[in-house]
Amino acid sequence: MDFLDEKLAAYIDAHTAEEPEHLQQLNRETWAKVIMPRMLSGHLQGRVLAMFSRMIQPKRILEIGTYTGYSALCLAEGLTSDGKLITIDINEELEEIVQRYIGNSDYRDKIETLTGNATDLIPELKETFDLVFIDADKENYCRYYDLVIDKLRPGGFIIADNVLWSGNVIKNRTDMDEETLAIDLFNKKVHNDSRIENVLFPVRDGLMVCRKI
Ligand SMILES: C[S@@+](CC[C@H](N)C(=O)[O-])C[C@H]1O[C@@H](n2cnc3c(N)ncnc32)[C@H](O)[C@@H]1O
Repeated sequence: MDFLDEKLAAYIDAHTAEEPEHLQQLNRETWAKVIMPRMLSGHLQGRVLAMFSRMIQPKRILEIGTYTGYSALCLAEGLTSDGKLITIDINEELEEIVQRYIGNSDYRDKIETLTGNATDLIPELKETFDLVFIDADKENYCRYYDLVIDKLRPGGFIIADNVLWSGNVIKNRTDMDEETLAIDLFNKKVHNDSRIENVLFPVRDGLMVCRKI
């Protein structure tokens, strides 16, 4: 996942807005106590997500893949004053840490957490979204895209994380595992979809940003 030279990465971090204190704490606690802490967006990507959200000024955000709530708290920074973010995760063991950090944040009244399988929960949502962040199981990325595209307003954005999958997307197809094949399929699907325009940003593990036309 580390595509950049260590010194260059440190330079970029040093010249990017600081990670807010509550997110530093969540980052530390996740690394200390939760399995697979590399899943957390972290300082640079968190600031990128917050910046995108502030640029979009969304009223409704859907996040698929809460984990410990780090990216939800970043994305919530750009919500309008009457805005709401819905975030979904299948892992109920994460609920305590998520509720504690969201509950202690300025966004406690703006973030709604749903626990369950996103493929079951998304069809039940009646909202129209301005921004969707896809960051759950890679095998379902195409499915999530299909489930959310009609719930996205024209001019709205979908951002999908890990679309470079540690660089594995450029392997020969015969050497790709299931997750890499799924990500590659997703990248090709959105790139060929005339309903959207897309840019693949080489931020961290790759962010696919799609704008619905
Ligand atoms: C990469 S982590 C999310 C990281 C988080 N967005 C962040 O940046 O801090 C992926 C999360 O997706 C969740 N997940 C996996 N499959 C899921 C599913 N079918 N429905 C909902 N959540 C799922 C996992 O439990 C995990 O917490």
